[in-house]
Amino acid sequence: MNNFLLKVLNLHKNFIEGDRRLEVLKGISLNIKHHEMLALVGASGAGKSTFLYILGTLEQPSSGYVYYKDKNLFALKEDKLAAFRNQTLGFVFQAHHLLPEFTAL
Ligand SMILES: Nc1ncnc2c1ncn2[C@@H]1O[C@H](COP(=O)(O)OP(=O)(O)O)[C@@H](O)[C@H]1O
Ligand SMILES: [Mg+2]
Repeated sequence: MNNFLLKVLNLHKNFIEGDRRLEVLKGISLNIKHHEMLALVGASGAGKSTFLYILGTLEQPSSGYVYYKDKNLFALKEDKLAAFRNQTLGFVFQAHHLLPEFTAL
């Protein structure tokens, strides 16, 4: 996959709430290189967390693809995805999910 570490292709995420359909991610495509460092910025509610949850495989996209190297992440079986999450990714959560008994060290 041309040296890209992450490749995001036409990613959509919708939430259905009652009879309302909220389109949060509307066709995001993005390539991220190995060792590239980037910041995702946008107004509150723009969809940053939703996007990161999908990149982190904590949420499924409504449609579209995320490739890690040449692995199509959302085509993996749940156990393979859990192993990927366990061994390949790291998260530092914003606020909740942090456990006071675990320090950064
Ligand atoms: N699980 C959910 N169900 C319904 N709506 C959601 C859900 N998660 C996020 N949203 C909505 O999606 C939009 C984007 O939210 P979010 O990704 O948290 O934005 P950001 O992180 O940029 O502030 C918001 O309008 C939010 O209310
Ligand atoms: Mg957020």
